Amino acid sequence: MQYSVVSGSISTRKTACLVAAVYQGGELPDATRAIDKTTRGAIAKHIRGSAFDGKHGDHLLLFDPAGLKAERLLLVGVGEKKTLDLAALRKAVRASVKALADAGIGEATSLLTTLKPAGFNVEAVARATVEASEHAAYRFERMKSKQSSRAPAPRKIALHVATSTQLAPARRGVNTGGAVGLGVALARDLGNLPANVCTPSYLASEARKMARKYASLKVKVLGETDIKRLGMGDFWGVARGSSQPPRLILFEYSGGRKSEQPVALVGKGVTFDAGGISLKPPARMDEMKFDMCGAASVFGTLKVACEMKLPMNIVGITPATENLPDGNAVKPGDILTSLSGQTVEVLNTDAEGRLILSDALTYVGRYKPRVVVDMATLTGACVVALGHHASGLMSPDDKLAEDLLAAGERAGDRAWRLPLWDDYQSELDSNFADFANVGGREGGAITAGCFLWRFAKDYKWAHLDIAGTAWDSGAKKGATGRPVGLLCEWLLNLKK
Ligand code: BES
Ligand code: MN
Ligand code: ZN
Repeated sequence: MQYSVVSGSISTRKTACLVAAVYQGGELPDATRAIDKTTRGAIAKHIRGSAFDGKHGDHLLLFDPAGLKAERLLLVGVGEKKTLDLAALRKAVRASVKALADAGIGEATSLLTTLKPAGFNVEAVARATVEASEHAAYRFERMKSKQSSRAPAPRKIALHVATSTQLAPARRGVNTGGAVGLGVALARDLGNLPANVCTPSYLASEARKMARKYASLKVKVLGETDIKRLGMGDFWGVARGSSQPPRLILFEYSGGRKSEQPVALVGKGVTFDAGGISLKPPARMDEMKFDMCGAASVFGTLKVACEMKLPMNIVGITPATENLPDGNAVKPGDILTSLSGQTVEVLNTDAEGRLILSDALTYVGRYKPRVVVDMATLTGACVVALGHHASGLMSPDDKLAEDLLAAGERAGDRAWRLPLWDDYQSELDSNFADFANVGGREGGAITAGCFLWRFAKDYKWAHLDIAGTAWDSGAKKGATGRPVGLLCEWLLNLKK
């Protein structure tokens, strides 16, 4: 979509549709009240005469509003005035883009950017508007043989701001929002692609494509022989059961001085997780094509860094493989020797994410990172604990945890912290190896975090379990692009 920022008279603005906010109960925000005056109270009257009362996400489309140069007026509910926050604004923006698309309106001017959610300036509001619009306009139709009949999203949206001094900050917000929107869309595309297309090699070729596009980005790809030669026994243990060759994809983004220590992002890239010999039941197994959404968030976030020329160095590491049953696959009871030298008894081959991440977390130490964050669709237990609203955050570092939680809050991509207390560690005890790859059923998200921590002792580290947040199921089935929003917000606020 194309965005512009405008100010000045609203009543004389020529547009196919003016989008204006209404508070719950029918109270009008300043900009809406101003156009209500121009229409001699027609807006207030229409609201009184309809079932629409400004409820969050609801809308009312009016044709040929008297006194305005706009062809239509879309009223969107933004909920209670006193609880108006950025999340409420995002929701209203998504609803408005959907309503515009459903009505087949190709171009609009939005007054939602004149709203003032507490604690956020016009730059943040414009950015959130663009991010939410891009999210709502996203379609994944690459695998359909024919264009769908669904109405396309609007092509152009002008964001109206209250004063001309707000033009410049709003334009900055549009640029940031546009970049984040691209990263989120990339993560969603990679997640939505089926596993017979999006293989480890496919991910590697997409990474190389990115490196050709951006001069600031270098990509190295390690294959089967490198993985074995380096001694990545955990990673190879998972990969050996698949006929698709594994890939360890290494991104190096240089936006800071050469001497600056990089931030490292590590993402689980299981392009399909059938469970291995500990085979999963058939119900919803198709959704295990999303098991590379951690890797996709690394791709997406690095794309944003490249687009925005973020002033820092970032390394991205995504171990990519399938997890399938096979005569050559790792078996329950097998013992693997990880790159760190620690030995792992594989009690359940379906706990494969932590195995490929263990070697990636050891490998990333080579870069002397200032901080490491890993993202993984790691446990069903995390979904049981937090549902689909929050990612599970685990970190031994309170400051890092707070920063990530705050970034998620601001970005509308929230996480919630789970403890990594020592009490949980004994769950991983093994009679035969240094430790096992699974604990009991209870606290499964935490024991997975405890497992990873054993490979992340040499640097500041946090783990995001995105099993519940990376994709939607049911009618809305598809990748969400999370946690690209959280990661970008965190990086944008990272101090030197
Ligand atoms: N990819 C799954 C986690 C998952 C499950 C994500 C369901 C989203 C929905 C992961 O590899 C896995 O299978 N985890 C096991 C771990 C268990 C064997 C300890 C799980 O959660 O059941
Ligand atoms: Mn699994
Ligand atoms: Zn998995």
